Amino acid sequence: MTGTPASPFLRVLKRDLLSPPPVWLMRQAGRYLPEYREIREKAGDFLTLCLTPDLARQVTLQPVERFGLDAAILFADILLIPHAMGQPLEYREGEGPVLEPVRDRAGIDALANDSAAHLSPVYETVAAVRAALPAEKAVIGFAGAPWTVAAYMAEGRGGRGFNTAKRWAFSDPEGFVALIDKVTDATAAYLSEQIRAGADAVQIFDSWAGFLPSAGFRQWVIQPTRRIVAALAERHPEVPVIGFPRGAGGLYAEYAKETGVTAISLDEAVDPAWARSVLPEETVIQGNLDPQWVVVGGNGMRAAAQEIVNQFSDRPHIFNLGHGLVPETPPEHVAELCAAVREAGS
Ligand code: CP3
Repeated sequence: MTGTPASPFLRVLKRDLLSPPPVWLMRQAGRYLPEYREIREKAGDFLTLCLTPDLARQVTLQPVERFGLDAAILFADILLIPHAMGQPLEYREGEGPVLEPVRDRAGIDALANDSAAHLSPVYETVAAVRAALPAEKAVIGFAGAPWTVAAYMAEGRGGRGFNTAKRWAFSDPEGFVALIDKVTDATAAYLSEQIRAGADAVQIFDSWAGFLPSAGFRQWVIQPTRRIVAALAERHPEVPVIGFPRGAGGLYAEYAKETGVTAISLDEAVDPAWARSVLPEETVIQGNLDPQWVVVGGNGMRAAAQEIVNQFSDRPHIFNLGHGLVPETPPEHVAELCAAVREAGS
């Protein structure tokens, strides 16, 4: 891409200061939207929805059409990589994802090496979403980061603190790194294909990065992410990468410096003033309203959003949440939030 992008989101990723900031929201597509629930029901099963380009395109576009957000994020899931590797995966109502755990070398060896090649429906969705939107709206591809994906693969499920995954990583670092390496290669290939299909930027979700002590964070969060960023930079030097090491706390700055990401997405626990003072000058900031504010709505939410816009007004900033929208969110509050961000910047 040359010249000034038409999309405000991509302009900020090129380090333009824009007021108001562009806005999109993690988990902007999903169960809080009645139009999503309708298509979700039609698909029957969540994996079918993710792997049917016609349906995945529709749910990707729904929040952009309803709220006028600046970017569409591909509708998919971080666990499509293990699924494409052949690891049995099921999404259970009220329980979340359940996988048949991988906990040793034999389990790792049984996983397919060419998983990204099995995900062509996802690339079709990206291409269809790109074709449906004007140039002002960006399309974001994504994947889970190797640590978070490997943690689900080893634990077999979320919600319990990933202690089995950690114990494996601590007691047999070489064995665990073999899994991380396999996921890292697959993820770089997967994101690269999303970009080839039309993604304008990609985000790497490391939702459970905050569960690791600092040495583990460096080894299993920073190192693999740095490898993915380098692989993408070689193939697609113009395409920005957003990193989201949720819960990284004091390690956010080191993550930003060492991985080479273009932008960093901050969780809601991060103080904006602190982030401004410690993050490298060239790092674009995304975030970080608490998603519970959007359940509450009203003046409190507006004030909290405006405060974030003000705090980051001297840095390239993309407005977002500190984590995903939750199913209890009233859609009207999302519309109110978008209006508040636009007013705050004007
Ligand atoms: O709008 C968007 O942000 C795009 C879609 C998206 C989904 N999952 C759809 C989804 C994205 C970016 C993800 C990423 C994802 N998936 C993460 C990282 C971000 C985060 O939230 O921390 C993680 C950890 C997962 C794994 C996952 N998928 C879990 C733990 C669950 C169950 C919990 C839940 O919210 O139900 C899922 C299922 C899932 N992924 C749903 C959606 C809309 C709900 C499934 C349904 O509709 O029945």
